[in-house]
Amino acid sequence: MEQADLDTLVEFLRFPSISTDSASRGHVNDCADWLVDRLKRGGLDVEKHPTPGHPVVLAKNNHRPDRKTVMIYGHYDVQPVDPLELWDHPPFEPHIEGDRIFARGSTDNKGQLLAHLLGVEKTLAASRDLPVNLIFLFEGEEEIGSPNLEPFLKEHAETLACDVVAISDTGMVAPGVPTFTYGLRGIACLEVALKGPSTDLHSGIYGGAVANPATAVAQLAASLHDRLAGRVRIEGFYDRVAPLEDWESEAWAALPMGDKEMVELTGVPTLYGEEGYSSLERVWGRPTAEVNGIGAGYQGEGSKTVIPAEAMLKLSFRLVPDQDPKDVMALAQQHLEAACPAGLTMEIEMGHHGKPYKVDPHNAFGKAAQHALETTFGKTPALIREGGSIPIVQSFKDVLAADTLLLGLALPDCRAHAPNENFSLENFAAGIRLNQNLLEALAAEAS
Ligand code: BES
Ligand code: ZN
Repeated sequence: MEQADLDTLVEFLRFPSISTDSASRGHVNDCADWLVDRLKRGGLDVEKHPTPGHPVVLAKNNHRPDRKTVMIYGHYDVQPVDPLELWDHPPFEPHIEGDRIFARGSTDNKGQLLAHLLGVEKTLAASRDLPVNLIFLFEGEEEIGSPNLEPFLKEHAETLACDVVAISDTGMVAPGVPTFTYGLRGIACLEVALKGPSTDLHSGIYGGAVANPATAVAQLAASLHDRLAGRVRIEGFYDRVAPLEDWESEAWAALPMGDKEMVELTGVPTLYGEEGYSSLERVWGRPTAEVNGIGAGYQGEGSKTVIPAEAMLKLSFRLVPDQDPKDVMALAQQHLEAACPAGLTMEIEMGHHGKPYKVDPHNAFGKAAQHALETTFGKTPALIREGGSIPIVQSFKDVLAADTLLLGLALPDCRAHAPNENFSLENFAAGIRLNQNLLEALAAEAS
């Protein structure tokens, strides 16, 4: 690992570019400016595009009509850092220990994005040219569902026309095991507000005569699942779920990761989920409903005899092909309205959403990408789907008619979105080489 590359990573990780936090808006913008500057110094043509949210950064080399056009996407925004007290070092003061660099965004996604950028920079410095027409597309809103990126793709469809997209923002099944991801779950988020009495009430004076929003929100949350089988009980939820293919279940069962590793990584006493499926099938190939937040009533020390005036519930659904986020949101709304106990009012706010994605891993570009992974890591890549979501990926297909190659560098214990997020420096170095091998492999595919 060159010290200069490490220094660059540290600089990039210092920006607290938290997209969901309006107070961080200036930092997100500064981070975009840093990227613009870096890309320009690398010799690319760069444009920074403001959006109603955070800026999009676009960069290109000199395009020639006889070459394939490859788009590389990444996001420079990060998730919030709380609970801050659980970090061993401040999240925006990168800390190196052994092979890992610890900072918010180190894996998701700045470290992986930067590996591409440095790979391209090095190739340009060595040979003044790339084997392909390249478009870098970096956004600052992935962690909030990319609300402005699909409109941006539509508006700039001509400039962004490409043969294929490549992204490093997914995982590797184990250290040293190159991993090609051919599917992502989609997502649909919604928030429920329950209102009961106009103010908190004395639970002795009024208890028994009015509905309690805290009880009701627990009932609503519990209504989402069949408790024994872990299945989602929303009517119609599974109607459009494409079944897993036999080869997928077989290939995943042979991976160096499974139920045992899932228990170790999560720290749970036992696994739990939809009956009849392995953990990997549950997270990669099956849809879910999750309670991400629930709140009501007194949370302080001791007891306080109160009927709270309101309660809230934050939900997200992970979706698989061929579910549609908007359909699922409508089904969830119907379910929640029917399940809402009497004596309360309920407001539902639809949040961000993105479609699931799946591509044939054996098409020509898929094979080229796997070849690049094999050259870089010296092993045959594992073929997997992922449970996480990158909302814009299906939009690349819908708007630009381009498939996406997902070549992730995140390790299972990278703690993305959690305290002590970290990125393997070995994978950072491998990512730089991967970029170079990938562009070669995709260019060879062109001829
Ligand atoms: N890099 C992740 C997506 C991911 C995580 C893919 C794990 C594969 C495995 C991405 O940055 C992310 O966290 N996406 C969010 C999207 C959401 C906030 C709209 C997610 O999946 O929660
Ligand atoms: Zn993320």
